[in-house]
Amino acid sequence: MSLKDQLLAKISDHNAVVAIVGLGYVGLPLAVAFAEHGFPVIGIDVDAHKVAALNHGESYVQDIPSERLAAIVAGGNPTAEGTPAAGKFRATTDYAALVHCDAAIICVPTPLNKTRDPDVRFVIAAGESVAQYVHPGMLVVLESTTYPGTTEDLLLPMLTSRATADRLHAERFEVGTDFFLAFSPERIDPGNPQYMVENTPKVVGGITPACREVAVALYGTAIEQIVPISSTQAAEMVKLLENTFRAVNIALVNEVAIMCDKLGIDVWEVIEAAATKPYGFMKFTPGPGVGGHCIPLDPFYLSWKMKTLNYNARFIQLAGEINSDMPRYWVEKAVDALNSAGKPLKNSRVLVLGVAYKKDIDDLRESPALDIIELLRAKGADVRYHDPYVPVISHNGHDLTCESTLDAALDAADCVVIVTDHSVYDWSHVYARARLVVDTRHVGVQKG
Ligand SMILES: NC(=O)c1ccc[n+]([C@@H]2O[C@H](COP(=O)([O-])OP(=O)(O)OC[C@H]3O[C@@H](n4cnc5c(N)ncnc54)[C@H](O)[C@@H]3O)[C@@H](O)[C@H]2O)c1
Repeated sequence: MSLKDQLLAKISDHNAVVAIVGLGYVGLPLAVAFAEHGFPVIGIDVDAHKVAALNHGESYVQDIPSERLAAIVAGGNPTAEGTPAAGKFRATTDYAALVHCDAAIICVPTPLNKTRDPDVRFVIAAGESVAQYVHPGMLVVLESTTYPGTTEDLLLPMLTSRATADRLHAERFEVGTDFFLAFSPERIDPGNPQYMVENTPKVVGGITPACREVAVALYGTAIEQIVPISSTQAAEMVKLLENTFRAVNIALVNEVAIMCDKLGIDVWEVIEAAATKPYGFMKFTPGPGVGGHCIPLDPFYLSWKMKTLNYNARFIQLAGEINSDMPRYWVEKAVDALNSAGKPLKNSRVLVLGVAYKKDIDDLRESPALDIIELLRAKGADVRYHDPYVPVISHNGHDLTCESTLDAALDAADCVVIVTDHSVYDWSHVYARARLVVDTRHVGVQKG
């Protein structure tokens, strides 16, 4: 039996041992999905605190409640014993666990560096660690968002040369026959109760057709719809198209909001009316800017790659400029609002309401609230914040603690800047209580 057929058989029996490398917002839900489908899952993360928490059945990812985790952790929840998923998951910091794994799925961060170029050092570190233990018949998949070519140009040589150098392996250690390599972009949408790992279609591209076949088979056990695609490069590009599409359309609607403001037109009325068109229009809404680990960053992976080919990705550049300028636009609105009430921004108390990058989640990464707070502070405002999901903010050397009582914070503020439209807020109450409101989200209530 070929190595591919052996792996396919293990996958079909749900006996394949699956390693998830990087247990963050993306990796943890995936690990839980495979364990709940009966696969033995080993989570590998360099963060010993996360590993310890997980082995105690404690989740730090909002979408995965601790009870769900405890049900799959070895010895985690006695009431779960006897269920197919009980004891299926354990976490470790030790990559040597890969010796016993049939698949390794890499979900490590892909940030930008200070000059906004791709910072792939986590992918390189994880790839090198996986390469130490890659063995015949193993499947390796990269899920981290990255520029087209990463899987083939960066990971493949690492895995091939490392494995071939290992005396225990056959001299010829070839992708597609001896081991398998694929790319499958993550599509997790934190806080989305409708679309989770299992019911979000998954795009999969392999270095060879055999690589794709085993990766499709593995994901197909836990995810309802798999979308096979011709190559790893195409799969990498799919993710970049998805997020560039969002970045550009959000920038467009943000610019339309600025233009409507100058024209004295209500942009929200315009958007709602345009959205009645049953074809050819997709509704996007303006706001304080973009945040999270994807939309502000991913398009720059593509524009960086294009620069290496002497091509300037103009839409990406422009969208980035418009979206990252939005915090400045809203701070100017706060200045104007205070001014019309006869107050300067300097020394005024400004309450930023909601700081997570989107509603109902606790993720602060790249949140436009951070820029708004910094700009307000730079202009001398006394900035406070309230967010039920974010107890403290540490950013650029400044620490802020969430105001303990919303009503007291509203009463004390000269101006309230609504940044994140968390569902728990009662907006008519906020509007009624606040002296001045700058509403970046159009929460839909007018004072009075
Ligand atoms: N968060 C999202 O909403 C989202 C959505 C789609 C795609 N993505 C993409 O998925 C990837 C992962 O994002 P995330 O949000 O899960 O990041 P995260 O920071 O939440 O998690 C990454 C984890 O990887 C660990 N890690 C770092 N280096 C490691 C190494 N060498 N070995 C093992 N573990 C290591 C970190 O300790 C961390 O726990 C990124 O490329 C991101 O762009 C994220």
